[in-house]
Amino acid sequence: MSVERKKSPRPAKPAKPVRTGPVKPRGGERSGSEAARQANQAGQASRAGAGPAPQASAYPAAPESPGRRLIPVERLFPETGPPFPQLAEELQAYAGLLAAACPLKPKHRALLARAVRDLSRDLTRDRGSGLAPNYLSDKAKLAAYVRYFLPWNLLRLGRLLAALPLDPPEGAHILDAGAGPLTFVQALWLARPDLRGRALRFTCADSAPAGMRLGLALFSALAGQTPWEIRLVHASFPRCLEGPYDLIALVNVINEQMLGLERGGSRGGGRDDLAETLLASLAPAGRLLVVEPGTRMCGRRISGLRRALLEAGGRALAPCTHQDACPLGRPDAKGWCHFNLSVRGAPAWLAALSAEAGLPKKSLSLSFLLAAGPDAQASPGPSVAGTYRVVSEDFPLPGRAQASAGRYGCGPAGLALLVSRERGLVPGDAVRPAEGGSGAGPSKDPKTGAVQIEL
Ligand SMILES: C[S@@+](CC[C@H](N)C(=O)[O-])C[C@H]1O[C@@H](n2cnc3c(N)ncnc32)[C@H](O)[C@@H]1O
Repeated sequence: MSVERKKSPRPAKPAKPVRTGPVKPRGGERSGSEAARQANQAGQASRAGAGPAPQASAYPAAPESPGRRLIPVERLFPETGPPFPQLAEELQAYAGLLAAACPLKPKHRALLARAVRDLSRDLTRDRGSGLAPNYLSDKAKLAAYVRYFLPWNLLRLGRLLAALPLDPPEGAHILDAGAGPLTFVQALWLARPDLRGRALRFTCADSAPAGMRLGLALFSALAGQTPWEIRLVHASFPRCLEGPYDLIALVNVINEQMLGLERGGSRGGGRDDLAETLLASLAPAGRLLVVEPGTRMCGRRISGLRRALLEAGGRALAPCTHQDACPLGRPDAKGWCHFNLSVRGAPAWLAALSAEAGLPKKSLSLSFLLAAGPDAQASPGPSVAGTYRVVSEDFPLPGRAQASAGRYGCGPAGLALLVSRERGLVPGDAVRPAEGGSGAGPSKDPKTGAVQIEL
């Protein structure tokens, strides 16, 4: 298996793909390595058939009743229904794919937990020191990445991809920039069985090809015979851009210093250049998906990128329900835009490794942005336009009757403290305040300065 390599300066013509055509599961030039063959065998057991298109689900409860004045519109992260239970089952079986594609000698297995811990420390602190640029070319780091970060990301990203209104058409061209072990492609496969029969073309690009090769072996094992065509390109962003793309995915990469976000640009920040470059690479109906861990630093960077995208003519489709400035992106904002999900669906083997590494997880946290170019019609979907996206858990309000609870929502009045008797809202829900509440009055939440909407 080979990887197309791109050298600087950017070639005038798009480089010839070395590897084209649908991924074939067994042997031959396509899957190439022994690792791929073994992983393919292991994958036989874990494949699931195609199913219905997952949708962001509406609340199960009746929409409106006395004392329940936040009308439910959409639940982004349901705990039941698609992508469960398949996602959980396939992740449980994923250990077999890993063992076949990336076998560990006993002495390396003994060092795995420590390698996971060290890599976690390096990945979560601000870059600039620590990680070498092509850290995934290091065998021990790559082994730690695919056994810990990759499966957690498959679960986190799978939950998100199952919820988002992504509908790449037949023949769509999708770029996964900073692809690593093809996390995005694998998560899309796991979370969107309705897309498995569609002829999709993926260009996966990374400055470190070793991770992509291993990811391809894992994907081949997972997917078997598939109409998805995967092309690996060894190139740095933005040289890997050719476009136009129907979808560009940037997953866990904008906190990588190498993307140049922090280097500055023509209008006071590299984000402006990045935003323009990305929008210029999208097809007219194309989509851009940026996903990062839900840390303050990453949430702030996504808000910054959103601002730059909107200034460049782009549109924010999710999680935003409006096109105004991000209230959580202001320098004085107390919080940042992120969502905490339960770890439901995490396989036992992953929980055990996490505990062994001293990194047990109680929740999954992510920040994300789904955006479109200026020509996109939907902005955001008509169902969520004008609603508030819940961005916190419910919390009791001191001095209030116990029936009242608060939660922060982001919507037409900016950041709002939504006070109502509603219970059971979770981060990611989109809600519409019912008529008859006091609306956005003069009261402000003393903690954040958010407008207070009483219902
Ligand atoms: C944290 S990993 C994420 C990999 C994958 N997207 C995932 O979510 O698991 C970041 C990846 O971005 C790649 N990367 C960083 N800067 C890059 C650049 N300028 N161009 C291409 N790839 C880059 C790294 O080599 C690494 O594989």
